[in-house]
Amino acid sequence: MADLSHNPTLGLRLDRGMEVPLFRQISQGIRRGILAGELKAGLHLPPERLLATALGVNRSTVLSAYRELKDDGLVEGHVGRGTWVLPRPSAPLQPPSAWQPSPGPRLSAISDPLIRDLLDSETPDTVSFALGVPAPELVPVQTLAEILARLPAEVGNELALHSPTEGVPELREALASYLVDRGIPALPREILITAGSQQGLDLVARVFLAAEDTVLVEEPTYLGALQVFRRAGVRLVGVPVDEEGLRVELLEPLLARVRPRLLYTQPTFQNPTGAQMSLPRRKRLMELAQRHQLPILEEDVYGDIRYEGPTLPSLRALDPAEQVLQVGSFSKTLCPGLRIGWLNGPASAIRQLAVARQTVDLHTATMNQWVVQRFLSEGLLARHVEKIRPEYAARRNALLEALAPLARLGLSWTRPQGGYYVWCRLPDDISLPRLAAEAAREGVAFLPGTVCSADGSTTRHLRLNFTALPPERLREGVARLSRALRAARSHHREADIQGETHQPLI
Ligand SMILES: Cc1ncc(COP(=O)(O)O)c(C=O)c1O
Repeated sequence: MADLSHNPTLGLRLDRGMEVPLFRQISQGIRRGILAGELKAGLHLPPERLLATALGVNRSTVLSAYRELKDDGLVEGHVGRGTWVLPRPSAPLQPPSAWQPSPGPRLSAISDPLIRDLLDSETPDTVSFALGVPAPELVPVQTLAEILARLPAEVGNELALHSPTEGVPELREALASYLVDRGIPALPREILITAGSQQGLDLVARVFLAAEDTVLVEEPTYLGALQVFRRAGVRLVGVPVDEEGLRVELLEPLLARVRPRLLYTQPTFQNPTGAQMSLPRRKRLMELAQRHQLPILEEDVYGDIRYEGPTLPSLRALDPAEQVLQVGSFSKTLCPGLRIGWLNGPASAIRQLAVARQTVDLHTATMNQWVVQRFLSEGLLARHVEKIRPEYAARRNALLEALAPLARLGLSWTRPQGGYYVWCRLPDDISLPRLAAEAAREGVAFLPGTVCSADGSTTRHLRLNFTALPPERLREGVARLSRALRAARSHHREADIQGETHQPLI
């Protein structure tokens, strides 16, 4: 790839049938070459006209690709001097030599080091909006420790032994009644306790999906789910989300065309947008699912973290035909470190999932299950949620207030009624990679929207978490973000002044 005289196309192969635009296919191909070290620092890329001719595309297509790489900080270019590869600030992650990943599309889809670099740019001084964790100081560690201390007397040595793959029966019972209290149908035999909802997603992919299946996902959606599905080798098709959640009206024509094996949705306070699917859409979705026999994986990890508005029925509650499998977790309501989540669905599906679970880790840690069992059955979780809700609502309000002046810079954002995140959209004159670079300099981190997208379409978005930081840190973070936005915008202006033409995105 590096010897350009013999390889004027840079080894790029364009697929005109793909939904990914040609300019992005070009920039992604070159990015891969740079990150893999095949295109070394200092190397001149072919002149736009030459590469355009070699690839059979318009010159403006190549210009757009080079511009994107420039915005990513991967190449530099000047009129009359061409475009060349810049040195990478940090070396790509190299696995030890004996442990090379097996080549193939599954891993390459989840190993772009650019994402790691962005998330890794945090230092102790960084104000990070990037992760989705509860406020550490509100986690009831003392209470959990007290429960653990009395469990040997109450449960005996069983506490440290194996437990059933499906979960400790007492926890399945306590969880079923907790879910039923919230209007979600659940029976103990319909529950499989998992090591967090991430494992629930992974088990579903192992059991019910095969390579080449089509899975419908919300666009944008949860990064961890995308990684699970990509690893499974499935084809992902994104269905847009707006402020009323999944745009169900776009689903019907898709169902006949792509014949999906599964739809993955988070109807309540979706990660990353915070959107909540409206009741009419929930009902319509269930009608469609029934008509097309579409299995639905409904994730609900944020539903309890509601700040306002009435509780809406879960999809599982609207499902007479047993087509919904729910995945849930205590990571957002209690704490992520205990690793307790669950799958709740038709008993036959739960049985198959439990069998698959045996090859993974046999069962969730017995002690942790007992701690959560007591926390639930003694009514402590309900009380804890009552405590964190107003605190998180205050943090959301603090973030929204701090963001208000940034509207003048063209930034826009959602106002979630619950959950953990505000989803922001950048104005057209600020690129996300440039903002990420300026944000790293200012000491503020966020999750870039690109990683939440199945098809790479959310290139102008960022996700801000507001639960992990107290209001004064949220305000400090927004002040830094504001400086980063201004710097990123003035960079864009300078690029304009230097005579670079802006090509429309194709
Ligand atoms: C939608 C969603 N699912 C799953 C997870 C991971 O949760 P757990 O800790 O239960 O694996 C997260 C965490 O951010 C999430 O937002």
